[in-house]
Amino acid sequence: MTRDPEDTSPMPADPSELNLADPATFVRPDMDRVWHRLRTHDPVYRHPATELGPAFWVLTRYADALTVYKDPARFGSARGNMLTSLLAGGDPAGGRLLAVSDPPRHTALRTMLLKAFSPRLMRRVAEGVRVRADALIERAVAAGECDFAREVSEIVPIATICDLLGVPESDQAAMLALSKRALSADRPGDTARDMRMARNEILLRFSDLARARRARPADDVISLLVHATVDGAPLTEEEVVLNCYGLVLAGDETGRLAMTGAVLDFVRHPGQWRVLKEGRAGVESAVDEILRWNSPAMHVGRTARRDTEIGGRRIAEGDLVTVWNVSANRDERVFDRPGVFDVARTPNRHLAFGHGPHFCLGAFLGRAEIAAVLAALLERVEVIEQLGEPVPLYSTFLRGYTSLPVRLTPARRPVPIERSMR
Ligand code: HEM
Repeated sequence: MTRDPEDTSPMPADPSELNLADPATFVRPDMDRVWHRLRTHDPVYRHPATELGPAFWVLTRYADALTVYKDPARFGSARGNMLTSLLAGGDPAGGRLLAVSDPPRHTALRTMLLKAFSPRLMRRVAEGVRVRADALIERAVAAGECDFAREVSEIVPIATICDLLGVPESDQAAMLALSKRALSADRPGDTARDMRMARNEILLRFSDLARARRARPADDVISLLVHATVDGAPLTEEEVVLNCYGLVLAGDETGRLAMTGAVLDFVRHPGQWRVLKEGRAGVESAVDEILRWNSPAMHVGRTARRDTEIGGRRIAEGDLVTVWNVSANRDERVFDRPGVFDVARTPNRHLAFGHGPHFCLGAFLGRAEIAAVLAALLERVEVIEQLGEPVPLYSTFLRGYTSLPVRLTPARRPVPIERSMR
C-alpha cells in the first residue's frame, strides 16, 4: 500500500476562494485537500453565485450523499444532473432522458431500458469487450510505446456502447469524436456552443438510425427503444433518440477515464501492480478500488423539490444541490485509510456509479471494461513506465486524463487471463 503522492501540499486551499463552477479549478493538484477541508469544516457548503450561474449547495460527506441519492421525491433530477446544465437553467432533455427524469416517468423508462441490460446480453457484450481489450493491449505491447488514453482507453467504451446500440462500425470513430466534444473539452478554449453543436450532431445520427430500425428491426438497443412501450404508449422519436444519446454520453468518457486512470495509478503505485502480478489480490477488488480512487464522474446534481434540511442546513425548494462522489469516496467516516490506494480493499462501497434509483445502468459493463483492460495488461505487461506528462481533462463533471504516454515492457512469463480474472 502506498500513499497518494498528491497528498503533500503544505496548506490546503481555502474552499471559499475556489470557484467550483469553473473547470480550471479541478486541474489544481491540491483538490483532495480542498475536499478534506470541506468534509471536516463545512460538509453542506453554500457555494456563492458566480458569473456562470446562481449559488449551489456542495455536499462532500458520504452519508449526506446517500441521503440525496436515495430520495428523488426531495431531490429531483428532471432539471438536470450536472452542474453545468443546472447553472445554465436546466437540461433541455429533462423529463425525457432516463438520467434526467423523476419518478414515475423515470421508473417506467428504467424498467423498459433494463431489458436491454439483461445479464445474458451483458455477458455477450462483455465477451466482445474482453476480445477487443486484449487485441488493443497486444498491439500496444508490440509497439512498445503508446498514448494509452488515445490508443486503448478511447476505443474500448465507445465501441462497446455502439455494439450495444447497433451503431455500425463505420460510424464509430465519428461518434467518439462527437462524444468527446459534447461532454467535456480538452482545451480551455472550447466553448459551450461547440458542446451544443456536438450534441445536436449525435442526435441527428441517432434519428437516422432509429428510422432505419423502425423499417427493419435488428437485435440491438435502438430497435428495442423504437418498438418499446412505456405506460402503454410507444416512445416518441425524440425520446428514442435522446435515450440512445444518453447511453453514449453516460458510458463513453467515464469508462475511458477510469481505464487511463488505472494505468496511471499503477505507474504511481508500482507496489500495487506487483500485488496484482503476484496474485495477492484479484482483478475484481482492484477494479472497485480504481473506481473509488479515480471517481470519473466527480459529482451529480439535483434540485430540491421542496423546502428541506440536510446536515442541519436549510435548503429551499428550487435550490441546486451537488453531491461530490470524488469527496464521498475519500470520506474517512466510511473508508479505512481513504488516502491509500489498496487494490485488495474490501469492503469498498464507493459511490463512483452513484446510488439508489439512478444507480448507473451500465455499472456491469463499466466494470467489465476496466477488468478486461487490467486482465490483458497483467497477462501481457511486466512494467508500465510513464513517458510524459498526462494531459488533464477540462471539466467540472468528469475527472481524469485525455493523454498518457507510456512504455509497456512485455511480460516475462504471461499470466493466463482466466487466472487473473478470478
Ligand atoms: C448513471 C457513473 C458507465 C449508463 C450513472 C451515475 C453515475 C455513473 C455516477 C448516476 C447519475 C445520477 O445519479 O444522476 C458511471 C461510471 C462509469 C459508467 C463511473 C464507468 C466507469 C456507464 C456505461 C453505461 C452507463 C458503460 C451504458 C452503457 C448510465 C445510465 C445512467 C447512468 C443510462 C442513468 C441511470 C438512471 O438515471 O436511472 N453512471 N457510469 N454508464 N449510467 Fe453510468
